[in-house]
Amino acid sequence: MEKITLKYGDNSLELPLLEGTQGERAIDISNLRYSTGLITLDVGYQNTGSCLSSITYIDGDNGILRYRGIPIEELAEKATFTETAFLLIYGHLPNESERAVFSQRLTENSMIHEEMLRFFDGFPPSAHPMAMLSTMVNALSVYYPSFFTESFESVTFDMMAVRLISKIRTIAAYSYKHSIGEPYVYPKHDLRYCANFLHMMFSSPVKPYQVDPDIERALNMLLILHADHEQNCSTSTVRLVGSSRVNLYASICAGICALWGPLHGGANQRVIEMLEEIHTRGLSIEQCIAMAKDRNNPFRLYGFGHRIYKNYDPRAKILKRMCETLISKYWYDEPLTKIAMELERAGLNDEYFIERKLYPNVDFYSGLLYRMIGIPTDMFTVMFAIGRLPGWIAQWKEMHDTRPFKIGRPRQIYTGHTIRRYVPMEERQSDPEAQGD
Ligand code: SDX
Repeated sequence: MEKITLKYGDNSLELPLLEGTQGERAIDISNLRYSTGLITLDVGYQNTGSCLSSITYIDGDNGILRYRGIPIEELAEKATFTETAFLLIYGHLPNESERAVFSQRLTENSMIHEEMLRFFDGFPPSAHPMAMLSTMVNALSVYYPSFFTESFESVTFDMMAVRLISKIRTIAAYSYKHSIGEPYVYPKHDLRYCANFLHMMFSSPVKPYQVDPDIERALNMLLILHADHEQNCSTSTVRLVGSSRVNLYASICAGICALWGPLHGGANQRVIEMLEEIHTRGLSIEQCIAMAKDRNNPFRLYGFGHRIYKNYDPRAKILKRMCETLISKYWYDEPLTKIAMELERAGLNDEYFIERKLYPNVDFYSGLLYRMIGIPTDMFTVMFAIGRLPGWIAQWKEMHDTRPFKIGRPRQIYTGHTIRRYVPMEERQSDPEAQGD
């Protein structure tokens, strides 16, 4: 194994140089502190690998994304979301019997415990669906108590995975019904995964929803494109929380909360809000670009930029094409899409964005598609969570399959006070400087 030599003062230490199957290289510092007393500092983990993983490969400079080696473009065009979920979790595309069993289990587990419906009564109709989703997913551990002890039983894991992937749709749809005051619509056993979700969202006792095949295909592709993305913020959260050996439901709940942030999965909602603001205020594209570049202006071009992609996000490319297809079929003069495409054109030709390698990411077009499907804006990040769930589960499983199993516990560099004494109140009152700076 190749090594590098770290020199510090009069000392030196040889550290192994690891290489991944796609040629990525890393310095293995697992023994650094033990051997030298030194740690590394890397705010935001921009240069730090947290694990070895065989699930998803991203080449950010060349806009490449593959799930278990299969290019996202092929999966988006040819696969279903449920077989992509199976691929991510178990490492291979299911054969016919595996597909049938997985599909049957998803169908059988699509309802949630009837008592859980009462939880929704505790939320105001205005509650953000991500707050409801994280609460209800965590509550699954109460109604389906398959907790993990030291031994990791795969049969328990398989059932928890299927329950989560199936029930997340039902919870999401019920949170929408709760927000609009309509009765819950139960899943049907004769509908495929995406069609069943659309049925629960948009059917009502007085009018069944007719699933449009193009809309079902668009949703299927949206979920596939969101299914995993290596060690992003929410996936790293699922791994870190799961490393304490808490159950899968609680780990996924933590991932949902991390995804909610506007810099992460919450960006798709912010993109639409940004486009609506531009439309209603009549802002010019030039004004938007200028505001996005102005450090003193809180306006940010949501849906642009990425920690890994320094080229066009391959998912955004596919979503843009899908947008154009659906617009030509349904929406002739959708103003927000026109604004989005003009913003993209301006951003791609502006020195500030070019210099910083800021390109449209997955969130730039996904919100426009969710709008066309009829999903309300505040549910866009819920849709991201439904898509990302198999990836979170796969990464959690991979961590549990890895030996040695280690709880995640980063170090720090302390920059606070050196030792000082307790100053009694009367002294603090008489001498504000008594505590030192
Ligand atoms: C997702 O990690 C993943 O894989 C995430 C994700 C997944 O599938 O899990 O791909 C999903 O989260 C996509 C990203 C969605 N977020 C947004 O669209 C929010 C807008 N984008 C940014 O906030 C930002 O680009 C991040 C958060 C995505 C990336 O942040 P980084 O890598 O920490 O980069 P940075 O914030 O340090 O920005 C570098 C420079 C800065 O300017 P300078 O200080 O060098 O002058 O680029 C500027 C930033 O101000 N910049 C932007 C910008 N994004 C970065 N300026 C204007 N508009 C933007 N959108």
